[in-house]
Amino acid sequence: MAILVTGGAGYIGSHTCVELLDAGYEVIVVDNLSNSKEESLKRVREITGKPVKFYKADLLDRQAVNEIFKNEPIEAVMHFAGLKAVAESVSMPLRYYHNNITGTLTLLYVMQLHNVKKIVFSSSATVYGNPHTVPITEDFPLSAVNPYGQSKLIIERILSDLYNSEPGWNIAILRYFNPTGAHPSGRIGEDPNRIPNNLFPYITQVAVGKLKVLNVYGSDYDTPDGTGIRDYIHVVDLAAGHIKALQKLNENPGIVVYNLGTGRGYSVLEVVNTFSKVTGINIPFRFAERRPGDIATSFADPSKAKNELGWTAKYGLDEMCADAWRWQQNNPDGYK
Ligand code: NAD
Ligand code: WQD
Repeated sequence: MAILVTGGAGYIGSHTCVELLDAGYEVIVVDNLSNSKEESLKRVREITGKPVKFYKADLLDRQAVNEIFKNEPIEAVMHFAGLKAVAESVSMPLRYYHNNITGTLTLLYVMQLHNVKKIVFSSSATVYGNPHTVPITEDFPLSAVNPYGQSKLIIERILSDLYNSEPGWNIAILRYFNPTGAHPSGRIGEDPNRIPNNLFPYITQVAVGKLKVLNVYGSDYDTPDGTGIRDYIHVVDLAAGHIKALQKLNENPGIVVYNLGTGRGYSVLEVVNTFSKVTGINIPFRFAERRPGDIATSFADPSKAKNELGWTAKYGLDEMCADAWRWQQNNPDGYK
């Protein structure tokens, strides 16, 4: 029996493929390569020494997805496929709602048709909006301030309604905090198409000389150094959390929601300083206006995942910096 990984050629999906293969699962990937390269899967095979079957298909193409389920012995789905750029979602809401929500609905219809009812879904800490306090627990009020976050909230609701409507569904909703870092081999990592939106790839591209200076968005937040605080989580830890969630669904069927974060927040300046300390590279930066929609502080209370899944993050900020840098240094142009 195999695990279907949607969006498996992407950043988090490819790292999760490695963990799945290392744990002995058979892996099948479906991806339309809209934000990734097939090369990532070649490298997953190289790292693990195991095969990965790949279908280049769009989740919006119901017939194509149906064919995969007809051909393959799929027992569960890990659903990463989606568009994820917050600012782009504000300028292209229809594209984001269509891709993320209709893509998920198509997948769920086909799963239902083939009686495959186990799914692990990539949600995001963005569903907590601007939290009233930190650390954030899973029962905090949910809200969204942009179409991307709204699409995650809607999918969470769809999954919960589906669970309530029909016995047999087994659903894990994983709310990621700020995924970063790369596989320690330096062979797979985050490969943004354009100028990165996120802090870590921006820093590594400054370090490698592709970008000149880091803009630090906001210096007057209500935080100790005035810059935004986030819960950065190593992508390998995140991937390991998916294996634990899958095991949980196998042992205790139901619907579950977990935060995947370290429980520790770092400011932008702390990240910049740690990166310089670990790599020996100075990162020039300047303070800029706050980025619209940004919040001051976000970090997880990860104790539910610890207590129920036996999962905790193993890697700290030093490893995130070292691994992100190894990937960028070895692959200055990503997979190109
Ligand atoms: P990514 O863009 O690297 O990976 C997503 C993959 O999905 C890409 O390979 C893309 O080609 C594919 N895809 C998109 N739409 C598709 C479609 N309609 N059909 C088939 N394939 C499609 O992004 P990522 O960082 O690996 O994120 C994976 C998931 O985790 C996403 O759902 C994202 O929203 C969620 N997430 C990411 C972060 C983050 O900061 N990276 C944080 C929280 C949640
Ligand atoms: C982190 C901190 C910025 C870039 C986003 C999405 C969220 C989730 C993860 C998908 C903030 C600051 C950043 C830069 C900076 N994605 N920053 N200069 O905004 O916490 O979360 O990615 O689900 O939904 O919103 O992550 O890495 O963009 O920013 O100063 O060039 O770094 O202001 O304080 P964010 P990020």
